[in-house]
Amino acid sequence: ADITLFRTHILYWYDQGKRELPWRTVALTEPDINIRTYAVWVSEIMLQQTQVATVIDYYNKWMKRWPTVQDLAAATLEEVNQMWAGLGYYSRGKRLQEGAQKVVSELGGEMPRTVEALLKQLPGVGRYTAAAVGSIALGQVTGAVDGNVIRVLCRVRAIGADSTSPAVTEALWSTANTLVSQERPGDFNQAMMELGARVCTPKGPQCTQCPIQTLCHSYRKVSVKQEENSTKL
Ligand code: ADE
Repeated sequence: ADITLFRTHILYWYDQGKRELPWRTVALTEPDINIRTYAVWVSEIMLQQTQVATVIDYYNKWMKRWPTVQDLAAATLEEVNQMWAGLGYYSRGKRLQEGAQKVVSELGGEMPRTVEALLKQLPGVGRYTAAAVGSIALGQVTGAVDGNVIRVLCRVRAIGADSTSPAVTEALWSTANTLVSQERPGDFNQAMMELGARVCTPKGPQCTQCPIQTLCHSYRKVSVKQEENSTKL
């Protein structure tokens, strides 16, 4: 029952206040699955080490220049690097182009259609990115655990242990896979990211504005402490 509430609350919050980001619009409105997957892949690679606000312009320019994976496959590395100028970590652009060439030459121009295939076929796509693209573009039911989501889940579950340890990482993926909405996995994952970026921030989280406050073990613990303190007075 708590899982259902968690999904309902966070998706409602997301629907009310989400940022309209260009790759979100594509994911929800583009009918061509190949373009949708390509677009979300590009956005997730750009977002790996760069903030949302910076990525928006780069993403829009990129998609205007190379609207399909075939267009990108035909680009030169020099053109790609020029387009990437200012984003940093240039190997990301190179991997996008290499991936596009692979899709065209080895996969008949079809982007991978599952999380496993994304992970296996595309260079530079790790566990998180495969899960993000798979859920957002393809509706695959999987959690997606990035830095923001790690923080949110550790707080919700009041996990004090080192969140970078392999055991904790596995536990968090398992929790994310249990929580993820079966109907709207991509929106759910983006809602988790958005909550971490805007409400459940590293310092000074805005718990009063949090849609899952009542389900959060860290929040409950702090509240209990405050109650205990106030009864002592
Ligand atoms: N960071 C990584 N992927 C994102 C997405 N789809 N929306 C917002 N922030 C993100």
